[in-house]
Amino acid sequence: MLGNTFKSALLISLMAFATGAMADITFSATQDGSTINIDKAMFDTDASKEFLATGKNPYIGNEEAIKKGKKIFNLYSCVACHGGKGEGAVGPGLIGANFRYAKDATNKGMFETIWHGTNGGMGAKGFGLMAPDDGIKPDEVLKVIAFIRSNSNVGTTGNE
Ligand code: HEC
Repeated sequence: MLGNTFKSALLISLMAFATGAMADITFSATQDGSTINIDKAMFDTDASKEFLATGKNPYIGNEEAIKKGKKIFNLYSCVACHGGKGEGAVGPGLIGANFRYAKDATNKGMFETIWHGTNGGMGAKGFGLMAPDDGIKPDEVLKVIAFIRSNSNVGTTGNE
């Protein structure tokens, strides 16, 4: 039989657990601000776990990650619409001071835009959204963002 003290200790630790889980950031769609559910299991690297907890992109300024990000930027044809450095082509520039969606000045906002797309001509690129087995994993999105920020004309890191 459980004593009352034990029961309340159990309750408190369960509550602490729930609060801990709730500390993760929540993602919202760039289209309409509705909540996007992304399977937490996809955040499977130290950097992506840190991003999930803090909303900060640990790859900013990391040369290795930026190189990988550049490759992904090419692989997923971002380059075709946004130019080789994100300077803009058919799609808008990604490296200036002004964004179509103001939240894209933050890494959390840009993550949401890349993951889930926009209403105005930019499809969702997140894993499972392009096709069941295709798309960019969270860790890769963070690397793409690190590449984009490395080209910023105005020194935006998105972690400000
Ligand atoms: C087929 C062309 C196309 C491709 C491919 C594409 N985009 Fe876009 N992207 C657009 C267009 C068009 C917009 C503007 C959408 C709008 O106004 O709603 C946009 C908007 C964006 C924005 C928001 C910019 C702002 O000013 O707020 C980001 C960030 C972005 N794209 C990143 C990417 C990344 C990263 C990739 C590759 C994974 C990519 N895009 C691939 C066409 C494209």
